[in-house]
Amino acid sequence: MPRSRNEKEEIEKHVGLLKLAQVLSFLVVFVAGVVLGLVTSSHINQHFVSKTEVYSFINHFSTDAPGVKGDNCTIVRDCEKVEDCSSLNAFLRPKNLTHHMSDNELFWRSSMVPKKEGFPYKRVPKVAFMFLTRGPLPLLPLWERFFQGHEKLFSIYVHALPGYKLNVSTSSAFHGREIPSQHVSWGTVTLADAERRLLANALLDFSNERFVLLSESCIPIYNFSTVYNYLIGSSHSFVESYDEPTRYGRGRYSRRMLPDIKLYQWRKGSQWFELNRALAVHIVSDTKYYTLFKKYCLPACYPDEHYLPTYINMFHGPLNSNRTVTWVDWSIGGPHPVTYGEANITVDFIQSIRNNGTLCQYNLEMTSICYLFARKFAPSALEPLLDLASSLMEF
Ligand SMILES: *[C@@H]1O[C@H](CO)[C@@H](O)[C@H](O)[C@H]1NC(C)=O
Ligand SMILES: *[C@@H]1O[C@H](CO)[C@@H](O)[C@H](O)[C@H]1NC(C)=O
Ligand SMILES: *[C@@H]1O[C@H](CO)[C@@H](O)[C@H](O)[C@H]1NC(C)=O
Ligand SMILES: *[C@@H]1O[C@H](CO)[C@@H](O)[C@H](O)[C@H]1NC(C)=O
Ligand SMILES: *[C@@H]1O[C@H](CO)[C@@H](O)[C@H](O)[C@H]1NC(C)=O
Ligand SMILES: *[C@@H]1O[C@H](CO)[C@@H](O)[C@H](O)[C@H]1NC(C)=O
Ligand SMILES: *[C@@H]1O[C@H](CO)[C@@H](O)[C@H](O)[C@H]1NC(C)=O
Repeated sequence: MPRSRNEKEEIEKHVGLLKLAQVLSFLVVFVAGVVLGLVTSSHINQHFVSKTEVYSFINHFSTDAPGVKGDNCTIVRDCEKVEDCSSLNAFLRPKNLTHHMSDNELFWRSSMVPKKEGFPYKRVPKVAFMFLTRGPLPLLPLWERFFQGHEKLFSIYVHALPGYKLNVSTSSAFHGREIPSQHVSWGTVTLADAERRLLANALLDFSNERFVLLSESCIPIYNFSTVYNYLIGSSHSFVESYDEPTRYGRGRYSRRMLPDIKLYQWRKGSQWFELNRALAVHIVSDTKYYTLFKKYCLPACYPDEHYLPTYINMFHGPLNSNRTVTWVDWSIGGPHPVTYGEANITVDFIQSIRNNGTLCQYNLEMTSICYLFARKFAPSALEPLLDLASSLMEF
């Protein structure tokens, strides 16, 4: 401390010995002040230097973020954790479909609708393709080809047997798309439960705008862009809904559903639906009518053929086209439709499903495209369908 020593000498020249004690105490305060000043200024310097390091570090991070690793990146890792927990992205587009919600919790959560208009991000509407299957998807290679190159415009959901994992490579559009499932008995309400579970899981992604239910025996009969534009551009949903005055229609109605559901409101339709987001939210939110079907629509009444057609007819009729976009052949009669195998796949056959000369209503116009999907196809149909895909179906 050279400066304090100099000053000490100067002071000693001018002040008498008698005042030494007083001077010394003054000095102690003065020296302490100087020391404090020096220490503080060196702290400020150090602080400034460390700030500069932080700034240069942040710059470094923002330019090549993916490469940053190692123990000196504590700050960055903390940021990432905060991202994972509460970023808008994690909320809007859950990456991992695994969750431990019960159906009750899931339906409640998926029924949420933002009150605020518009979106705080660029929302590209997606089509959710929901596959309801017992196990494998034998026609999966055809679907993979259909989806290829359109990754930003669709999401896939698979409801298989609990614990079943599709045997697909990590690059497949189907990889990791199984939702938490429950056991399904065909013909019982557990089938309709599974359909609603698929809808609810798909609703968690806010970009999903249209929701198509498909089975393992369904195929696409137009290319992705045609299907996407058709669905996204439609002002109606495609849930088949008609009044059938026979024992297979009205005959399945139960008077125990009175006074909530009346016979004239009762409808029938194909299980294979297509819904827009607004209607899908209504479906997962309904408890009252679904409970009536659960209790009173027992074989030979099948909830999957009557619940949606009836409920939508009662409350949301104007939102529905009342026709299905999934073609099926009931011409042989009986409880099951025709299954087409390898020998049946010809250009003429597929072309006749794509367009048989009939026109269908689409928005306010008529169109020759009535169906986008078709069933039922056996696993043996895969090879001939793949052969026809590029020439006839244009994918
Ligand atoms: C700090 O990170 C850099 C860049 O990743 C790395 O080269 C360096 O070895 C790391 N230092 C320590 C002490 O981990
Ligand atoms: C999964 O698929 C691969 C390739 O298609 C096949 O070799 C393998 O045996 C399959 N694994 C199972 C468990 O089916
Ligand atoms: C999703 O998360 C679960 C654990 O929470 C994990 O076991 C599973 O592998 C993850 N799936 C994917 C596709 O990352
Ligand atoms: C479908 O049926 C409902 C009645 O349930 C009706 O209101 C609606 O206009 C019909 N849709 C079309 C496109 O005709
Ligand atoms: C499909 O092909 C098989 C074998 O040729 C034939 O027996 C069957 O009648 C065909 N089915 C239809 C619906 O054309
Ligand atoms: C075309 O398909 C529609 C709907 O499936 C059917 O009603 C109609 O009879 C078919 N027309 C011809 C010419 O096959
Ligand atoms: C998809 O099909 C439509 C007709 O259905 C065709 O006009 C269009 O070029 C096809 N798109 C591609 C990418 O092949």
